[in-house]
Amino acid sequence: MTPVRAKISALGIYVPPRLLTNKDLESMVDTSDQWILERVGIRERHIADKGVASSDLAVEAARKALAERGIEAGEVDAIIVATVTPDMLFPCTACIVQHKLGAKSVWGFDLNGACSAFLYAVQVGSQFILTGAHKKVLVIGSDVMSSIIDYTDRATCVIFGDGAGAVVLEPADDDSLGMVDFIHEVDGSGGCSLYMPGGGSLHPSTHATVDQKMHYVHQDGQAVFKFAVRKQTELCEKILKRNGLSAKDVDAFIPHQANRRIIMATADRLGLNPEKVIINIDRYGNTTAGTIPLAMHTARTEGKLKKGNMVLMASVGAGFTVGATLLRWAY
Ligand code: UT7
Repeated sequence: MTPVRAKISALGIYVPPRLLTNKDLESMVDTSDQWILERVGIRERHIADKGVASSDLAVEAARKALAERGIEAGEVDAIIVATVTPDMLFPCTACIVQHKLGAKSVWGFDLNGACSAFLYAVQVGSQFILTGAHKKVLVIGSDVMSSIIDYTDRATCVIFGDGAGAVVLEPADDDSLGMVDFIHEVDGSGGCSLYMPGGGSLHPSTHATVDQKMHYVHQDGQAVFKFAVRKQTELCEKILKRNGLSAKDVDAFIPHQANRRIIMATADRLGLNPEKVIINIDRYGNTTAGTIPLAMHTARTEGKLKKGNMVLMASVGAGFTVGATLLRWAY
């Protein structure tokens, strides 16, 4: 019998120990603790040491999720790694993670959906559960954003951090728990608002592309900001409506952590009680594919994620990619 729903059965997170504070950034670029706190909501972010890659963060987060579930890596059927900072263009980071975890007879792949990649990967993994093809899928969001940030560009370097989170997906034995619905959209017309132009097949790395800083993140912050508030709100309203729910039915709102003002503007438009809004951007910054599992962990630590809770998740990222997910927390 194929299951009716997939559920998240375990969660693990990892951030590298080294902190980059707003004070540190004040000595690197023309910025201030006050500007970053007021305009973005970040106090500090974690940064990986040289030589530490996305796979290293992913493996640490995965080990915690597997330990919480009480299973060995070899018991999962597939590994999906959501990332825009793969260790290298190929092989995919999922292969590197598989090898480091010592997971035998497993397949996997990377998913590039920028800040929406974790939600996208959760849905892709859930489909394998729903078809009955797999019993356990490990989904990891991991990014070492510091590897693609220009630390002389104040418009981007204050925003991003490094981090990872992992979940185990399984069939839900109780039909009232687990994934309820999702809505995903992409809008490629926004591609020029947030991108890294160098290093791909269009602009392979050369001395010239490096001189032109094409190997770094480029962002039109205001364009992304406006799209994020409008589109996140739209998809969240749509997913609630089509499931016969309203803001008061949401126990926890777990959004991508790109900017505190984006999160609060979305929550306000949705009419959500601020108590239900999970925010940890102050501690981690924007970790791209890591933000949502890190925020799930924060919600749990704050006692805001309990079995049966209705959880609304939302994300917007480069692409543009945008997504909303509804689930009932299953454990
Ligand atoms: O996760 C992927 C999705 N990404 C996002 O969702 C990011 C969305 N965008 C944002 O979060 C915001 O647009 C930013 C945080 C990137 C920028 O905030 P903003 O309030 O939109 O600032 P702004 O670009 O309108 O710039 C306002 C002022 C400018 O100065 P002037 O022209 O008014 O004199 C900037 O030069 O702030 C200046 N500024 C800074 N000042 C101090 C820009 N960056 C900084 C900085 N420190 N780091």
